[in-house]
Amino acid sequence: MSQTPDLRNAEANMQWGGRFAAGPSVVMQEINASIGFDKRMWRQDIRGSLAHAAMLAKLGILSPADEQDIRGGLEAIAADIAAGRFAFVDALEDIHMNIEARLTERIGEAGKRLHTGRSRNDQVATDFRLWVRDAIDGLDAQLADVMRALADRAARHAADPMPGFTHLQTAQPVTFGHHMLAYVEMLARDRGRLADCRRRLNECPLGSAALAGTSFPLDRDMTAHALGFDRPTANSLDAVSDRDFALEFLGAAAISAMHLSRLAEEIVIWCSAPYGFIRLSDAFTTGSSIMPQKRNPDAAELVRAKTGRINGALVGLLTVMKGLPLAYAKDMQEDKEPAFDAADAWALSLAAIAGMVRDMTPDTARMRELAGAGFATATDLADWLVRALKLPFRVAHHVTGRLVAKAEARGVDLSGLSLDEMRSEEAGITEAVFGVLTVEASVASRVSYGGTAPANVARQAARWQRELA
Ligand code: ARG
Repeated sequence: MSQTPDLRNAEANMQWGGRFAAGPSVVMQEINASIGFDKRMWRQDIRGSLAHAAMLAKLGILSPADEQDIRGGLEAIAADIAAGRFAFVDALEDIHMNIEARLTERIGEAGKRLHTGRSRNDQVATDFRLWVRDAIDGLDAQLADVMRALADRAARHAADPMPGFTHLQTAQPVTFGHHMLAYVEMLARDRGRLADCRRRLNECPLGSAALAGTSFPLDRDMTAHALGFDRPTANSLDAVSDRDFALEFLGAAAISAMHLSRLAEEIVIWCSAPYGFIRLSDAFTTGSSIMPQKRNPDAAELVRAKTGRINGALVGLLTVMKGLPLAYAKDMQEDKEPAFDAADAWALSLAAIAGMVRDMTPDTARMRELAGAGFATATDLADWLVRALKLPFRVAHHVTGRLVAKAEARGVDLSGLSLDEMRSEEAGITEAVFGVLTVEASVASRVSYGGTAPANVARQAARWQRELA
């Protein structure tokens, strides 16, 4: 036995149908209804209505008895929805009217007084801000968790060398810990973007009504503060018609997804056999239905791919908004699905990255081996020529280039050249040069602030671990 009337065949909408004689066509109803997705904002909608009713009662616009009935009714509806006992009705269009209709059905006359001094336009703008704000808080905690996983890895591998790349060509040795911390810095800025977005969105549209404000002497500060907003919005037209807060959220999502995608791409590269830098366990890989030896990094690939839908959400909503005259237009109903979808994809990507960073087993011997390949310490040799022999850097660069060519022709690395071979290119070179040609010496020498020297990396990793604890 349904507790909700079946309004699917109702002739005219019971909320706004006063001047309508007939109901909408099936197509009209289908294109108009948002309940299929905006029911996700039920908690925010009820929070907003509770705050609105309490404010109306304080001002004497609602009687204490009506407010009590409204509060009881909304709380019962919340319990029904949470328990999956609420029947959402398409004919009632959206979450706002589904809840209000059910409230009136439960408590009668008082339910019809709730919408005083309010429109669905300020209601939806408020609900959506609350939803995005809740999403921001959850995603911020997830970003911090990924950073913690990366900082822990960095602390463990502060001194383990790996090849550092530019153009994906071996450039100079770095440490695996340093590489992990690069992503910690990126994700810290992602959190900063979320914090900025949260600060700007945290104004309350409630009381802006349809577009012009209302003749009821509402206490907008009261509702703003009850809902955790810093203040009420200052212009009713702006409040009901902009969605820049959602766009900022999507912009932050797109940038962060780009960061996660780059790390995901590196995980894919690192697990491939020719690299063999890390191994992912069964928990984060899949097999092939034909090739029994395969261990595919599907989770990393999908994190890389989710970037596409998150970027799509941002561009989609920018496109919806760009030509709309003030104030509200129904186009704006298309704001929620991209935001919900991007938030879901972002959250799942963060969970997958956190899982993979904790799951991976780095092969430090393999990374060390490749860190020294490809004449990775050539810059160290050039720097030594500058320091020890006072050669101008450009001259040192040329001498080193000739020595690399010589070593390449002989099939050895730089430390495989004899002192005589070195001296044939630059007579001043001494035995001491061999001290700078090892991978360990190279990374240890990079002591400039922000550089890859193990002592630097250990200090930075510890700082992040402290900050994130
Ligand atoms: N479902 C609508 C939305 O998401 C709510 C606001 C409708 N307002 C209106 N005047 N029809 O935008």
